[in-house]
Amino acid sequence: MKFFETVEMAPPDPILGLNAAFKADPRSNKVNLSIGAYKTDDLQPLVLAAVRKAEEKVLTDGMDKEYLSQDGNPEYVNRSIQLVFNAEQDNIFGAQVPGGTAGVRLAGDFLAQLGSQVIYIPDPTWANHNQVFTKAGLQVESYPYYDADRRAFTKAQMVEAIQSIPTGSPILLHACCHNPTGLDPTPDDWKEISTAIKAQGLLPVFDFAYQGFGHGIDEDAMAVRHFLADGHQMLLANSYSKNFGLYGERAGGFYVVTPDRAAAERVKSQVMRIIRANYSNPPLHGARIIAAVLASDTLRQEWEVELAAMRERISGMRKALAEGLNAGGSSVDFSFMYRQNGMFSYSGLSKAAVDQLREEYAIYMPTNGRLNVAGLSPKNLDYVVEAILVVL
Ligand code: LMR
Repeated sequence: MKFFETVEMAPPDPILGLNAAFKADPRSNKVNLSIGAYKTDDLQPLVLAAVRKAEEKVLTDGMDKEYLSQDGNPEYVNRSIQLVFNAEQDNIFGAQVPGGTAGVRLAGDFLAQLGSQVIYIPDPTWANHNQVFTKAGLQVESYPYYDADRRAFTKAQMVEAIQSIPTGSPILLHACCHNPTGLDPTPDDWKEISTAIKAQGLLPVFDFAYQGFGHGIDEDAMAVRHFLADGHQMLLANSYSKNFGLYGERAGGFYVVTPDRAAAERVKSQVMRIIRANYSNPPLHGARIIAAVLASDTLRQEWEVELAAMRERISGMRKALAEGLNAGGSSVDFSFMYRQNGMFSYSGLSKAAVDQLREEYAIYMPTNGRLNVAGLSPKNLDYVVEAILVVL
């Protein structure tokens, strides 16, 4: 029997594939603006001090290595519900999952089980959403989010599109720091979006991977908390990869806001089965660290200060990038970057320009022109600015 002869080579992942290509690039002047991972001014990965201290506590407490239940560490889940929703409600089911991606996939699997056939996602969106939902058996349709001419979020078109999505459909929303555009609805826009989604009878599915990277922990949760107050039922996936810098520990969550406690119990029983049939139960370590930080007033305070420092460094680099490009006499006015939030800047660079930056300057970013601002520093900023001005 020939089993594998007809297997075709898959294309590289648009984000992880680039990161691998960056690592393999021997050029010493290379710059990684591809994957969304924070770097210091020295372009080094950052392990937060609050995380180090919590990790020491986890080790000195001599915690065991037994299995968690399918829904994970209860303290982590309860504190996550508090952090995300600012609520303690027995109609919310939560589970610890291995990273934000697993939360999004679990949302897809659960929706498919509920009978959903199509999910509506923004155009553009995170490069992985399409394949995650497709693998979960859903068909993916998009709604307008971005106006390339104005380089702006298009609320009017989004709301209009919502009005023609079939009732009962799930709709994916980026809770803050929209990936890849960095453009978010204002609080008033969110209120209008919530009303439109409710009127249409859609099920909101939030992807919340950047809490604290936009304007602050509570500010960035505005949309989610407003939807909760508005009485929506919803699904939500969150991630601690970025705001705790725990990328490789795979710490995330999946939450379902149901009408009441009994519904939450039934949802839990079904989600537990989906998890069991997939990865069985989540890993221990990252969740223990996060639970220890969130449980301690001192560590939590320290974490918030460190998170604010990451946010401010990124925002400083975004400003320096826009200023550098504008000062360089480009025909494009880069002031639009000031409106963008979070780790990314949607630069508007063409695929040809992105390819040229990679090939000639060893500057890596995905072909949609999304640039990881957290990968810029005073060490590489001038080089990147000069290179972009040339390829433009
Ligand atoms: C990104 O968009 O770069 C991050 O969310 C990392 C990933 O998994 O793609």
